[in-house]
Amino acid sequence: MKTKQIDAREEKDLAKILKPAAKAITEGKLVLMPTETVYGLAANALDSQAVKSIFIAKGRAQDNPLIVHIADFSMLDNLVEEIGEIEQKLMNVFWPGPLTIILKKKDIIPSVTSAGLDTVGIRMPSNQIARVLIQQAKVPIAAPSANISGRPSGTNLADIRQEFEGKVAYRIDGGECDIGLESTVVRVIDKKVHILRPGKITAEQIAKVTGDVVIDKHVLGKIEKDEIIRSPGMKYRHYAPKTKCMLIYGTDKEKMIKYINQQIQANPNSLVIGRKENLPYYQTDKKLELGTTLEEISKNIFTLLRKVDTYQVDIALIEGVEKQGLGLAIMNRLLRACEYNYIEIL
Ligand code: TXA
Ligand code: MG
Repeated sequence: MKTKQIDAREEKDLAKILKPAAKAITEGKLVLMPTETVYGLAANALDSQAVKSIFIAKGRAQDNPLIVHIADFSMLDNLVEEIGEIEQKLMNVFWPGPLTIILKKKDIIPSVTSAGLDTVGIRMPSNQIARVLIQQAKVPIAAPSANISGRPSGTNLADIRQEFEGKVAYRIDGGECDIGLESTVVRVIDKKVHILRPGKITAEQIAKVTGDVVIDKHVLGKIEKDEIIRSPGMKYRHYAPKTKCMLIYGTDKEKMIKYINQQIQANPNSLVIGRKENLPYYQTDKKLELGTTLEEISKNIFTLLRKVDTYQVDIALIEGVEKQGLGLAIMNRLLRACEYNYIEIL
């Protein structure tokens, strides 16, 4: 299959320019689609064959369910059983936006989409290109993050172009994703919101709407053998470069910098990924800028992780952030990228 590119970055008439990509979706083909979080590998969520080809293109494990994207509330009733009061509140406040809600699915959703579960994760993205594409295709769109399984998610087209060359009918260029980390995934259990995957919509923001929030222990913790896993995606190796990575964090900035410099002394062939203002203090010339604010950091992380292996260093030393607000999502991704090789400096 030949991949065609659509540049939708400055486009005013999205409906027109996205028509061929929407047609490809209805014909069961795959499309690279921008969203406000990360790029998605999109297909008709109701077409088992099309969804199967997502799993093949990504090399994704068959027991890892896909998120189904809708453009408006009218698409929802057809897909899920009754919606609880708490879920409804979450939708009213956070949709459209980077929040995925796990709900009881109707039979119309094929089991390959939900990986055999009786639930499905639904999200209404706020990105205009994604919304118009769904509207034009007139079907809900299943879209995992656009990356080969195990690799960092794609937050711009340049990072993922090669991974999907010839595997998709269209790639839509929507520029750099606004957020850079995947959506927050939640499920209501016994009237409490459980965060299965942290994201831009934070636990603190959700708690303001629904009261107490439970952060699933696998958000920061490793999965032990035979444990029950509420979100299958957490089981798999994620985001990790081939290069060994170490995550280091301390509230005392000077101590953290000192520790990282000791690591560099022990192994001069190290790369440091740190906050912009800290970089001058590191005694190596191999440095990458993490950004300064949590928003900048979340935007940069996946592209930075993709760069690590190009440096051919023995180790990448990565500064962590506080595990609060958006910081929880950043640390969730970095812990996995470092395969839990984490030092907290007290
Ligand atoms: O921001 C996002 O959510 C992006 C964009 C493209 O929308 N999509 C995304 O999809 O990150 P994916 O497939 O890379 O991650 C989906 C996560 C996985 O960890 C999966 O296990 C979990 O959501 N998930 C999906 N359906 C679920 C379900 N029914 N129950 C529990 N977890 C579910
Ligand atoms: Mg993913």
